[in-house]
Amino acid sequence: MTRHKGIILLYFNFLSILFLTTNCERSAEIHIADLRCEYRKEPLGIDERHPRFSWIMESEERDQTQSAYRILVATNPGILSKEEGDMWDSGKTISDRSIQVEYSGKELESNTTYYWKVMIWDKADRPSPWSTLSSWSMGLLDKSNWQAKWIGIEYGEKGSRIPDDPLLTPRGTPPGTPSPIVRKTFQLGSEAKRAMVYATALGLYELHINGEKVGDHLLAPEWTDYSKRVQYQTYDVTDMLKPGENTIAAVLGDGWYIGTFGQWGDDARRGKNYGSLERKFLLQLDIQTVDGASTEVLSDESWRGYYDGPVRFADMFLGETIDARKNIPGWDSPGFDDSKWKEVEIFPDPGIELVAQMHEPIRVIDTLTPVIITEPEPGVYIFDLGQNITGWCRMVVNEPEGTKILLRHGERLTEEGGLYTQNLRRAKQEDIFITSGERDELFEPRFTNHGFQYVEISGLSRKPELSMIAGIAISSDPEQTGSFECSNKELNQLWSNILWTQKDNQHGIPTDCPQRDERMGWMGDALVFAQTAIYNMNMAPFYSKWIQDIRDAQTAEGKFADFAPHPNWDKPHLNAPGWADAGLVVPYRLYQNYDDLRVLEKQYQSAKKFIDFVHKNNADLVWKNHVGNQYGDWLNGDLIDSDDYPEEGAAMPKEVFATAYFAYSTRILAEMANLLGNNSDAEKYLMLADSIRQAFIDSFVSGDGKITGDTQAGYAIALDFNLLPDNLKPLALNHLLRRISEYDGRLSTGFHSTVIMMKELTSWGHTGIAYDLLESHELPSWLYPMDQGATTIWERWDGWVEGRGFQDIGMNSFNHYSFGSVAEWMYRTILGINLDEDHPGYKQFTVKPEPGGSLTWAKGEYHSIHGLIRCEWRIEDDHFIMGLTIPVNTRAIVHIPSDFPESITEGGLEAIHAPGVQSFGIDENQGIFEIQSGTYQFESKYSLRHNK
Ligand code: BGC
Repeated sequence: MTRHKGIILLYFNFLSILFLTTNCERSAEIHIADLRCEYRKEPLGIDERHPRFSWIMESEERDQTQSAYRILVATNPGILSKEEGDMWDSGKTISDRSIQVEYSGKELESNTTYYWKVMIWDKADRPSPWSTLSSWSMGLLDKSNWQAKWIGIEYGEKGSRIPDDPLLTPRGTPPGTPSPIVRKTFQLGSEAKRAMVYATALGLYELHINGEKVGDHLLAPEWTDYSKRVQYQTYDVTDMLKPGENTIAAVLGDGWYIGTFGQWGDDARRGKNYGSLERKFLLQLDIQTVDGASTEVLSDESWRGYYDGPVRFADMFLGETIDARKNIPGWDSPGFDDSKWKEVEIFPDPGIELVAQMHEPIRVIDTLTPVIITEPEPGVYIFDLGQNITGWCRMVVNEPEGTKILLRHGERLTEEGGLYTQNLRRAKQEDIFITSGERDELFEPRFTNHGFQYVEISGLSRKPELSMIAGIAISSDPEQTGSFECSNKELNQLWSNILWTQKDNQHGIPTDCPQRDERMGWMGDALVFAQTAIYNMNMAPFYSKWIQDIRDAQTAEGKFADFAPHPNWDKPHLNAPGWADAGLVVPYRLYQNYDDLRVLEKQYQSAKKFIDFVHKNNADLVWKNHVGNQYGDWLNGDLIDSDDYPEEGAAMPKEVFATAYFAYSTRILAEMANLLGNNSDAEKYLMLADSIRQAFIDSFVSGDGKITGDTQAGYAIALDFNLLPDNLKPLALNHLLRRISEYDGRLSTGFHSTVIMMKELTSWGHTGIAYDLLESHELPSWLYPMDQGATTIWERWDGWVEGRGFQDIGMNSFNHYSFGSVAEWMYRTILGINLDEDHPGYKQFTVKPEPGGSLTWAKGEYHSIHGLIRCEWRIEDDHFIMGLTIPVNTRAIVHIPSDFPESITEGGLEAIHAPGVQSFGIDENQGIFEIQSGTYQFESKYSLRHNK
């Protein structure tokens, strides 16, 4: 935040206190907090012309709701303090809407900061005090706002490579070219009042001003389909500038634009993914000074460039080589003599869209100290970070000039204690540091990333200490919204492993894995994990960006890709059932969880085109044509390699799987149409969804409820997608239970069906079986990998098996989140926090904890878009005791498990007489209540024997 803004906030707080003290008698006991614009607090540089506002309310009173709101938006805080808004005054608006309220004032302008505040009226029409002030700024809204030119400078002859120097590049890789550096010095007549940088690159950039790095973004501008669009980032640099000489400078890297990615990302493809080997940079710095002058600093021919700096090579998969002998002291500071540097090159405008980055950037999210060092061979040291992460190592060394230190990164150790790297395939993950001989030299890469828990270091002249390195974990960094804890420590570790796996696979896009030569935005994986991801973090901005990537990857005829971004390779991956469907499922999850209709609006035509394409090519409504690579229920039990596990019987036949998804997605499309008010489409696609369901029944379901393939997966998916007639559902359920017992109580489900089976077991009253699966240590299970030391979720249940060793090196990631989708079940069933589909965004929701297994207590939170939901229960002395918090302006239907539902109390009173509580129903095992906002404490007679 700028100094300027800080002063204003102080001033404003003073005003609020004044206001509070003079108006408390008329105020509602409500505190407004957490003001958000487009899901984020005080975002910079957004390009949404009608941003949406959300706020939450806190109150000590129960049963509080909002009956009206008033929003003021102004171009400066002084106007707001007079209770005026020169951009927008919504007036008192009768509405209980406190999320996704669309800005409806005057047209917003580029490169401008706006300030806003909100007050509400409670359910008794009592006004609240004004909220504290918040703000956001607009980015550059029109192409014409961009006056800067794309610049860069390449090694030697344009695009030529440095000589093949084995010292400088990872073993066996073709040499790259060093990272170019560009800089400019400019004068400022007086102090800056407001200074905003808008910057981007084709490649990567790290920006510095006056000797310091700007912002905390890493790997900016992150990955999009660069043939169509690139994101720019906005930084407030007011405090970094000073009167007199200033320097702005950037180092450029290869990133996804030039470097290797994907399983086909062999080294020879460097530079071919987006058709260029040239790193290009674009920057616009807009400065207003206190003397009223405006200055613009633009990337253009006035910049100087240098091509022989310390970053000799950097590739996302292969690693980074830094030669400290090439360091250039002062390169990013005023006073540096760049007269020997060259003029930069000017590149033609690539003609792609420049869009604002609206989601949280990739940042350092954790710094880990290693837990142990081993020395498997003399002079070769392996550091164990104790946690599988994505990122790199920071290292401080004292070695003579020219010492070459090699860092190799891997997820596991071999049985002999060496570094296991075979599963990395072509992603070498090797960093090389070459010392200049200075004391305490610090090395840290910035244009690569690795998936690893272990780092092997060689080339040191003496035995290192643990403190020599730190593991730097990096991730796209949405706020954490969920937490989970219970009496079984193993489940707590499992939940932590799932959260880490999410963090490790969020780098501008949701990836399948962070280590081997793949790391793609595989859509099937994201589809199954999205709900878990949303419980864990505020995912809306991140997924909204990725849904645009999905649209960019769609073919003209309507096929969705299997991963997004989907560069235009000779080997396209398109339209696989269960992968392509993420183009409907993920936007729909955003709608359900955040009441975000806009994401549906934006996606609607693409979704429709996809369903129409599948329909047109599968007239009998069994999806068998245009199924792409048809992965099916990926990594189901048939792929487990273990003597005491059935070799077949787990894989859902491909057509059954595909047709189930066709029906499911078509129903989502009908619902999208309905929500968007397109009634004729809603009717048309509802009829189509019903017909596909009928085709599913006719083709695959027999009169005894058996489904072709007779798999756990098939029954679970058919029940969950509502594909069966009511009379066959109990029969299908019995087949599901039979198939579980035929696997000796073990699961045989794959990526798609695992969490679905858990949910179906619970919804049909077999939560005990679900707990048995969750707490099992037998292969395949969640706890089996943990017994083998897993700190993240494995791609395969049997990634490593005692006595057998590692699975197929061709596909064996130890950091793949799909099976971690069970966290959704843990939130829903153990904590009991469930969406109500008829009331999106948790306006109303269900709390239905189901104790079971070994658990005697559980607690957790979910920070919904409407506010904090907290649930905590324990079983003690034959009582079930539950604490619960329901956000203001929402209500919940709460199920309290009980032996004698009539005896349930809340806060010591008979529950139905407690304030804010109304009876909603009762059966022999539970009392059901509708409760309004507030904090509650329920108690009921309940015995532990119910568990199991
Ligand atoms: C990825 C998966 C992905 C799959 C498609 C794999 O190589 O790692 O997670 O969904 O390909 O089957």
